[in-house]
Amino acid sequence: MRTIDWVDGAIELIDQTLLPDTCVTLRLHTVDELVDAIRRLAVRGAPALGVAGALGVVLADGDPELIARLRAARPTAVNLAWGVDRAAARLGEGRDAVLAAALRLRDDDIAACRAMGERGADLLEGDRLRIMTVCNTGALAAVERGTALGVVRTLHERGRLAEVLALETRPLLQGARLTTWELARMGAPHRLVADSAGPYLLARGEVDAVLIGADRIAANGDTANKIGSYALALGAERAGVPFVVVAPESTIDPGTPTGGHIEIEDRGADEIVTVRGVRVAPEGTDALNPAFDVTPRDLITAIVTESRVIRP
Ligand code: MRU
Repeated sequence: MRTIDWVDGAIELIDQTLLPDTCVTLRLHTVDELVDAIRRLAVRGAPALGVAGALGVVLADGDPELIARLRAARPTAVNLAWGVDRAAARLGEGRDAVLAAALRLRDDDIAACRAMGERGADLLEGDRLRIMTVCNTGALAAVERGTALGVVRTLHERGRLAEVLALETRPLLQGARLTTWELARMGAPHRLVADSAGPYLLARGEVDAVLIGADRIAANGDTANKIGSYALALGAERAGVPFVVVAPESTIDPGTPTGGHIEIEDRGADEIVTVRGVRVAPEGTDALNPAFDVTPRDLITAIVTESRVIRP
């Protein structure tokens, strides 16, 4: 089953807010519905947002205001604007051309994820690898297979995966809710880890490689990804463990010179002071909620894309 697709004139996607308890497919017919799904993270992950953006242009039916709103639904993952722009570039040729462009982008994403899986698995040395990861970078973050978790899947298929240590990924628990769900379905050994335990487990020698995805890679190689990635990069450097970013070429943004130029989404206090609807801090507590952080390029061992390995 694909995370997101175009079926009988509408976008179908898995509502990721309900996982792991229930797997419900939403059918979206309007840009308003799609923008809402993107903002509440029913669909999320940079490659999936790229496909959502492209398919959303078909729903927008040429309305520039709707297209602009879709493009700006979330700011950090460059893939959303990229997908919108790719499809919108065909508007002059009519709806069929826009749809064809969006479907090609979907198919390219599937091929890119498969290629990244192979390339990433080829890059890593060792037969029984213990991998640490954060957030969800699997099929749920793309159309199929995923990026960093796509490498994990390929390692598992090749019999080279010992274990995945998945960080919970507060505040929205993409690691606890989504990555564990995917790993269980692929039959891959895994354990869930509190975010704050990540750097210590690296120091204790329990990890052979850290694999993460990316929301935007600046022209100089600085990489924005889910909050917690930077702490893992620091821990990996100190422990001498490879820190590998796995992302499609579409996540590289030549228009953003350095990580300092990347807009980091702040999702507001509510997500921090509550956990799945239950308040965990005194009433009235304010909070900071950067959804992403930036790992400077010198902490990155390699960036694996569908076509190359970059060593920033
Ligand atoms: O806020 P999210 O869940 O959309 O954040 C997703 C991530 O940070 C992923 O690591 C990134 O988009 C790469 S997904 C292959």
